[in-house]
Amino acid sequence: MNIQYDKEHRIFQLDTGNSCYLIGIADEEGFLGHVYYGPKIADTDLAYLMRTEEHPFLPSGNDRERGSFLDSFPFEFPGNNVGDYRESAVEVKDCRGNSAVLFTYRSHKIFRGKPMPEGLPATFGDEENSMTLLIELADEVLGLKAELYYSVFADCDAIARSVRICNCSQEEIALEKIMSVSLDMDDDDYRMLVLHGSWARERQMEYRGIGHGKQSVGSVRGESSHQEHPFFALAANGATQEQGEVYGFHFIYSGNFLGQVEKSQYDSLRVSLGIHPANFSWILAPGGSFHAPEAVMVYSDRGLGGMTRTFHDLYRNHLIRSSYRMKKRPVLINNWEATYFDFDDEKLLSIAKEAAALGIELFVMDDGWFGRRNDDSSSLGDWTVNEEKIRGGLPHLVEEVNRLGMEFGIWFEPEMVSPDSDLYRQHPDWAIALPGRRPCRSRNQYVLDLSRPEAADHVYESVARILKSANITYLKWDMNRQLTDLGSAFLDGKHQGELMHRYVLALYRLQERLVREFPDLLLENCSGGGARFDPGMLYYSPQIWCSDDTDAVERLTIQEGTALLYPLSSIGAHVSACPNHTVGRVTPFASRGHVALAGTFGYELDVTALSGEEKAQIPEQIALYHQYQGLIQSGDYYRIASYRENHSFDCYEVAAKDGSEALVTYVQVLAEPNRRSRRIKIPGLDPKKRYRIEGQERSYSGSALAHAGILIANRPGDFRSELIHIIEADD
Ligand code: DGJ
Repeated sequence: MNIQYDKEHRIFQLDTGNSCYLIGIADEEGFLGHVYYGPKIADTDLAYLMRTEEHPFLPSGNDRERGSFLDSFPFEFPGNNVGDYRESAVEVKDCRGNSAVLFTYRSHKIFRGKPMPEGLPATFGDEENSMTLLIELADEVLGLKAELYYSVFADCDAIARSVRICNCSQEEIALEKIMSVSLDMDDDDYRMLVLHGSWARERQMEYRGIGHGKQSVGSVRGESSHQEHPFFALAANGATQEQGEVYGFHFIYSGNFLGQVEKSQYDSLRVSLGIHPANFSWILAPGGSFHAPEAVMVYSDRGLGGMTRTFHDLYRNHLIRSSYRMKKRPVLINNWEATYFDFDDEKLLSIAKEAAALGIELFVMDDGWFGRRNDDSSSLGDWTVNEEKIRGGLPHLVEEVNRLGMEFGIWFEPEMVSPDSDLYRQHPDWAIALPGRRPCRSRNQYVLDLSRPEAADHVYESVARILKSANITYLKWDMNRQLTDLGSAFLDGKHQGELMHRYVLALYRLQERLVREFPDLLLENCSGGGARFDPGMLYYSPQIWCSDDTDAVERLTIQEGTALLYPLSSIGAHVSACPNHTVGRVTPFASRGHVALAGTFGYELDVTALSGEEKAQIPEQIALYHQYQGLIQSGDYYRIASYRENHSFDCYEVAAKDGSEALVTYVQVLAEPNRRSRRIKIPGLDPKKRYRIEGQERSYSGSALAHAGILIANRPGDFRSELIHIIEADD
């Protein structure tokens, strides 16, 4: 890693292990332009790539064509309403109502370490393993300053970017749009890879062609959402899992976002990623500033797999802070799919007893334990234990569970309020709503206006009080509806456009308080399944519930899309009952276990209702988890085959970083008649070492495993799975 400035050519060079990013300063006015992003190169005198020598020339030499220049220059932070008609990175409204803004270079600093944007989740680094370039730009007419932050890391090919806007004028200025990444590249024949979805169908990989005009992903739902993910990649045409160039862009934020690729009239691409400008504005008082959330850029010349492994390393080493980051997580059992709202202490303890005897380590009580909550129509906000259901109170139940040798965890949905709740009856103005309009209910609930400090404090105190009342070591923080009716009775008219972002900042403050006050708590975020599975939440919780769809086959594609970016140790995955509650499919108990191993392993079923044969498999599955969790948590992930693509089977591998072992999971989803065995190539091991497959006699070289592969027999039966454990051989 290194960052340097070539004074002669006015070029900044950011180097990661295998990639390089060049930024140039052009003309007397100091236009900041993008020069190069790709494999490492030695030269910095590449200013010609900004095409300033070609028509239409620089404004200093040809002011007649200033407009053509501004509309074609590869801006690193493009302004608005001054000649560049492409997507802007920043938009403002000044006190006269004007919207023009254009930033040019003023100064820069290069230093070791990495500053953190205040109040926001972001990648972290120290002086040993990270370096930062800070470029200061200014718009002198408005009196605005922009600070562009670029950080590189010693151990991954990633660049973290963020932007801070400071109002140095004497007037108020409204910030109406701010993108954290803007990058102008040539169109070298890329496809756009996105993750789309829905409830129970999160993060499905989809490729789109890039035509002229704009292609985008986004959320205006107040959370990162089931529907689209704050990520996209540009994959060179023909790029595969392990070959070809891929540029990945990921936003470390849990609210509204816009990610976009715009192909211009000159076939250049402008990539943008940041807070969605819809319903957004932020008032910058004189002296005030706004720090836009961080985004991460990853370059890979080893296909999608190279990008994936960089994201995994980056998030494991520079984003997840929890003390559980590299620790074994307890095998949990959650009662949601076992009981839904219909439970009492007796039922819970019967599940816990059976689970403890089978080796399960943590019991999680899900929705339904508080207020008068017997279905989803009431009580959110009334966080007092329902002693009709939990007789003897929570401390008693927790003690009983602890007595079984299990830890105890609890579910909360702190951001919400039911219209039928004491909290709402006392504070109807704490719900997000518009004056004169009946707010839209979703799952029968409203969203609390977290921009109101007393509402946010109440939320925090409610959670903290319960956590302090008993020996609770795990918390599932859920959020089951998206935001609508954007109105805050707390904010004045001028600041209403700040509600969505203030909401996210308040959520971050709440979780920050929580992880500081309860540093040993295992926090799992969740949002109606995986609607807030994003890097922002990962900064607070080392694991996130991936999807309410626990069917082993559906999980193959959901977990493939999730593992494209996120380490397996962060992916909440449980074995559930069959027929599956979402899709009605019946799969073997063993396959459900194998698929859940590619995540934080647990159970979500009524263990007292299982057959003896199924029950007997639980200790075996837990033993597998104990055996492999270290490898799964820290290893390199390789996608070998995708059921999403071939509609027949799925295969992925985790290889130890030191090349000592690998675990391959193979799932034959559909049995096919008269099929030969299938050849699977296993990359990621040391080509010179010899390996054995557990349970077999013969050995293979790492190069044979990678290039010649092994055969997997075709056996009758749908949804069959196997684990192939490859270990270093002594010979
Ligand atoms: C949605 C979550 O994803 C489920 O796991 C469960 O906790 C329910 N909410 C409870 O309401």
